[in-house]
Amino acid sequence: MLQNTSKLDRRSFLKKVCKLFSFIGLFIMMGLYLLFAFPKQLRKKKTVYVYACEEEELPVQGVRQYYIDYPLHGKAGTKKIFIVNTGKELFALSAICTHLGCLINWYRPENKFLCPCHGGQYDTNGNVVAGPPPAPMNRMPLKIEHQKVHIGLRV
Ligand code: FES
Repeated sequence: MLQNTSKLDRRSFLKKVCKLFSFIGLFIMMGLYLLFAFPKQLRKKKTVYVYACEEEELPVQGVRQYYIDYPLHGKAGTKKIFIVNTGKELFALSAICTHLGCLINWYRPENKFLCPCHGGQYDTNGNVVAGPPPAPMNRMPLKIEHQKVHIGLRV
């Protein structure tokens, strides 16, 4: 009699454990579904502005390379960017190649951005002019406040 009660208890315990794991599995599946179905809504990024340089250090005309420090989420890092002044427009470009993510360099003699990895080339506006990059260089938000230039990073 005592054995039957023990078996019954074990069986009901195992049923409860199975139900618990089923619910946990269901929640995980629902979470994964939501992440894949609505990735942008669930992973909303915000723009954080970090200091790049003084306004007087901006290129009068042409391209200048900067390294900006970004202490975000407890991690410190450095990001290479370019600030371009065409005379009509001032904007910032990410130095990350849109092909496979290598760091792009500015090559003044040809007025082009060159990617050393697979020969990608971009014009001064960041548009692809040669090579495998599938998209133009990414523009980054830029703002000037109190003579200080800040670049927006998506985090
Ligand atoms: S990573 Fe730049 S061209 Fe391939």
